[in-house]
Amino acid sequence: MSDRTPIIAANWKMHKDHLEAIQLVQQLAYHLKQEDYDGQHIVICPPFTALRSVQTLIQAEKLPLLLGAQNVHTDASGAFTGEISASMLARLDTAYVVVGHSERRMYNGETDAVVNIKAQAVLASGMRPIVCVGETLDDRRANNHIKVVLDQLHASVSQLSFQDPEVLVVAYEPVWAIGSGETATSQDAQEMAQAIRQELARIFRQDVADAIRIQYGGSVKPGNIRSILSQADIDGALVGGASLSADDFALIVANRRL
Ligand code: PGA
Repeated sequence: MSDRTPIIAANWKMHKDHLEAIQLVQQLAYHLKQEDYDGQHIVICPPFTALRSVQTLIQAEKLPLLLGAQNVHTDASGAFTGEISASMLARLDTAYVVVGHSERRMYNGETDAVVNIKAQAVLASGMRPIVCVGETLDDRRANNHIKVVLDQLHASVSQLSFQDPEVLVVAYEPVWAIGSGETATSQDAQEMAQAIRQELARIFRQDVADAIRIQYGGSVKPGNIRSILSQADIDGALVGGASLSADDFALIVANRRL
């Protein structure tokens, strides 16, 4: 057993307005017991418009949930219509920020270099980036998946500097497994997580790499969470579709007692 703190994050994507968000968090809290929160980070990443509502609920009810954002802008402020800065998120007690999700890489043209700058902005505001990497089905079929992911990783995190390695989370999300019902086998996920940790050791140091948390994401469900988390280099999950159901997400979070 490693002493890395597991992290299970709900990525709601573009779902739930602020009222629905409050309802979903209340339902989730109803299902969870104190022991489910102990020794792991449970992160809720709603859309921007629901951040304030979820933050207020977490504070008022003293819920041991952490707030996460799904994206951030690279710059601290300026003429960037429609964008949100890291300091704005930090003011809402946001603990984690997802950067470089494959959907943003695909639909918003985010490059590794942009992801790297976003992760720096997150760290500079005292929050923790969840840096996403993952290969396409073509990459995997061409047996090029490890190289593709390690190249992405290198270019997305190599400029980062931090004291505490717990501030950096890497989410391995094979693009073909996201929202598709297809999950990488636990062995495939572990193979990649191990390769990611070795690359992190080359970029930073072995002891730093040993303390950085690596999540798996891609069709995580109550039925597969245990086998995913049983892998030596996987420290948590980034959950999309199944996090929109309080029942399913509670089963995922509570996997240790069920
Ligand atoms: P999924 O999404 O669980 O619906 O596959 C995961 C993600 O995109 O983070």
